[in-house]
Amino acid sequence: MEKSLKQKIDILKQTDVYAPIVEALKKAYENPTYQFHIPGHTKGKAIFKDFKKLTGEKVLNIDTTDEFDNLGTLHPATGPIKEAQELAAQAFGAKKTFFLLNGSTAGNLALAMALTKKGQKIVVNRNCHRSILTGLIISGAEPIWVCPNRIEDWSVWGNIEASQIEELLKNNDDISMVWITNPTYEGVVSDIKSISEVCKRYGVPLIVDEAHGCLWNFNKHLPETALKLGADAVVHSLHKTGGSMSQSSMLHISKDSCLDCDAVEKALKLLHTTSPSLLLLASLDAARANLQSKSGLKLLDRAVKNAKYLRTRLDAIPNLHQLKGDFGYKTDVTKVFIKVDGLSGKRLESILEIDFGIEVESASDIGVLILCNLGNKHSDFKYLADALEKIATRDYKDIYYLEKRKHMPMLEPKIMMSLRDAFYSEKETIPKEEAVGRISAEVVAECPPGISILLPGELITEEHLPYLRDYETLEVVVNG
Ligand SMILES: Cc1ncc(COP(=O)(O)O)c(C=O)c1O
Repeated sequence: MEKSLKQKIDILKQTDVYAPIVEALKKAYENPTYQFHIPGHTKGKAIFKDFKKLTGEKVLNIDTTDEFDNLGTLHPATGPIKEAQELAAQAFGAKKTFFLLNGSTAGNLALAMALTKKGQKIVVNRNCHRSILTGLIISGAEPIWVCPNRIEDWSVWGNIEASQIEELLKNNDDISMVWITNPTYEGVVSDIKSISEVCKRYGVPLIVDEAHGCLWNFNKHLPETALKLGADAVVHSLHKTGGSMSQSSMLHISKDSCLDCDAVEKALKLLHTTSPSLLLLASLDAARANLQSKSGLKLLDRAVKNAKYLRTRLDAIPNLHQLKGDFGYKTDVTKVFIKVDGLSGKRLESILEIDFGIEVESASDIGVLILCNLGNKHSDFKYLADALEKIATRDYKDIYYLEKRKHMPMLEPKIMMSLRDAFYSEKETIPKEEAVGRISAEVVAECPPGISILLPGELITEEHLPYLRDYETLEVVVNG
């Protein structure tokens, strides 16, 4: 007899983990049918041989979409997919969780489509991910920018103060929502509790893009998730650090939120593919189960310990510095942003890669970002720390073109037109040098981290040029 969700959760409590999509896929694999449906490679029988060799047969065997093999459906959520989303909501402490394909990008787009309208004012941090901007371009809501503190020595955006949000809400009584990013890509953490208290006092919902913080609910040495600190909705890129496959993410609506879950679900249905990959959905289910399992919790504990080990080693290396929590902001211990005197971040990245075979998460003109992941062993960190010690104490020189590459401007935007109006205006493409003094008609955002250099409606100035080295032309508003 089919077990109820409650019974399954009880089993989960007793036996460590239960992952319904994974179980359903296993069953489908063990009971193959004569397949006359998509995907047409038919369990890998009609696929490029080298690709099959690379992936292995099993992956192709379970590459299927919803509707088939009793796997349930994503929209509406039914069967094992529905159960898996409910188990995820429990694990992350949410009222409702939606599995996302196309990453947290899909979650941000859905939130914008469902919850914001043309002309509504929404407080957004200027260093938000471009998916939020895309969402606002689609809905036509107007961002009211909040510029976080700048951590000048590191050329990165820092935390957002509750007082900044309060100031904006006090001066604009028509703001309908606050939407901020926490943590930053480099791991700087804002005081979400105070920010949510301000939002509640002014009666506006708070959305937190916690794309880089999906592990937080599973280890006491990591910051508190916004779902526990009063946010209404949170997106998590499980594929970034949570252990699911690339592109798979989650969107959570918090327990006490009055946000319209149905509207969010409808928007997701419009945005999502109609052929969701069961592999990706199962990987979300598996990542959640792993994070709740004894072995997964151990891996996370190991990641935190490895991060602390790395940080202790780095402290002892001359000429090397790491970004740490400071008065006013905290950091996520697993995201280690470092710089070495005399080397740009880009140069340091290339030395690590070429001389030591090490690939880091990203590099800026200042430093490199290292993620202490679930999958890294202690010996990986020892190797990395040894390599950094050699680099910092040997006579490595910067290389001009790497040194001069600029990464992320922290300029106060000069807004000349609304985001949406500029995006949909008549446009022309002109050489970059001629664009100074004109109004941008496009989102110019380098990935990673997908933070914008220029947005539609913003004045292009001389100050932008060093950050646009890879661009020969820019799209500007005609007559603007
Ligand atoms: C803060 C933030 N939000 C959202 C996203 C989009 O996430 P995804 O890559 O899962 O679509 C990113 C991606 O880098 C991000 O940094």
